[in-house]
Parts: sequence; structure tokens; C-alpha cells
Amino acid sequence: MNFKTSAFKRLSRVALGAAVLLSLHAHADEAAMLEGARTLATDVPANLSKVLMDEVAKGGVVSAVSVCKDKAPEMAKAASAKSGWGIRRVSLNNRNPKAVPDAWERAALEEFDRRAAAGEDAATFEKYTTVETDGRKEFRYMKALSVKKPCLACHGTAQDVKPEVAEKIKALYPDDKGTGYSLGQIRGAITLRKAG
Ligand code: HEC
Repeated sequence: MNFKTSAFKRLSRVALGAAVLLSLHAHADEAAMLEGARTLATDVPANLSKVLMDEVAKGGVVSAVSVCKDKAPEMAKAASAKSGWGIRRVSLNNRNPKAVPDAWERAALEEFDRRAAAGEDAATFEKYTTVETDGRKEFRYMKALSVKKPCLACHGTAQDVKPEVAEKIKALYPDDKGTGYSLGQIRGAITLRKAG
């Protein structure tokens, strides 16, 4: 009886120790993933923004629309190949027909919208989770992209988007939903995923 009890106690202590270690390990994994995601979610949009703004300055907004069309997916692909993360942009009012959010992304975007409408600073909006499907783990991360002044030339209302820009957008994206925004609203998000 005594022997059994102490053996049981020892065993449960070992089991508890293993569980703690495993969960610490999981936390360390998630923390590393989060750090990697945050870096990419800052750098990738900043690089694209720079390319776009350079083109606006050099060739004007109309020409920057085509640059964005080619460069945005190209730069996401290159960053993806280099980092091993799946990288894309999504929006509840997508311009690129492929930029449609899935259920988790949609819920996050709706939450970002609510928080922005309540006056919170969108610069801090992020969402992450580790999902497990059929025993495979995946880390997912989203960071909000809010509307700043330079965005309005291509995503604003008719007051901000010049007719020739609107025409160019319509020609390239006949089903565009990505206009009508004002400062501080959530235009969309960068969304990242990696097996872990
Ligand atoms: C010169 C015009 C232009 C400017 C300025 C611009 N965008 Fe865009 N934006 C586009 C085009 C064109 C697309 C579609 C790109 C594609 O095909 O992937 C796009 C797509 C996006 C998307 C992806 C989702 C979707 O709807 O396809 C997000 C998010 C986005 N823009 C946010 C911004 C933000 C935030 C700013 C300001 C920092 C900005 N954009 C400035 C032209 C512009």
C-alpha cells in the first residue's frame, strides 16, 4: 500500500514534470514563432510601401497602381521563399480577387474593424494562434494594415482617388471593393502561417 502510494506519487511527479516541460517547450516555440511573424509583418509591408511611394514620386499614382499589381504579390512570394512563412494580404473589401480572408482571418478583421471604430490605435492590432489539424501544428499570425494618408490616393473616396486612377484600377480589377476608405480605418491585414 505504502509502496504503491509512493510509487504512484513518484510517477505522477514525473508525469507532471514532463507536462510542465512540454508546455514550457510549446511556449518557447510559440514565442519564437511570434517574434519571427512580427518581424516579417512589419518589414514586408514597409518594403512594399517604400517601393510604391518611390513609384508615386517617380511615375505618378496611375503608374504606381500597375507597380503594386505586380510588385505586391512578387515581394510577398520572395519574402515567403526566403523565410519559409506563407505570406499574403487579405481584406474584407478585397481588390485582388484572391485576397479573400478565410474564416479565422475574417473574424480577426471584423475584430480589428470594431476596435478601430472604438478609437483604438490600429498600429498595435495583431492576432495569433497555434492550430492543430490531424496532429500537425501550424502557427498563424495577422497584423492590421490601417489607412494612412498616402493610401487614400488608391483606396480613398472619390474625393481622394483621381478619375484617371479610378479608371486604371477599374481596368485592372473590375470587381474592386477596395475604395471608399478614410484615415485610420482597417484596409486589411498581412497574414502569415508556418508549420511548427
Ligand atoms: C498606387 C496605388 C496604391 C496605393 C498608394 C496603396 N495601394 Fe493598396 N493596393 C493597390 C493595388 C493595385 C492593390 C492590389 C494588389 C494586388 O493585386 O495584389 C492593393 C491591395 C492592397 C491590399 C491587399 C488586399 C486587397 O484588397 O487586394 C491591402 C491590405 C492594401 N492594398 C493596403 C494598402 C495600404 C494600407 C496603403 C497605404 C499604406 C496602400 N494599400 C496604398 C494600390 C495601392
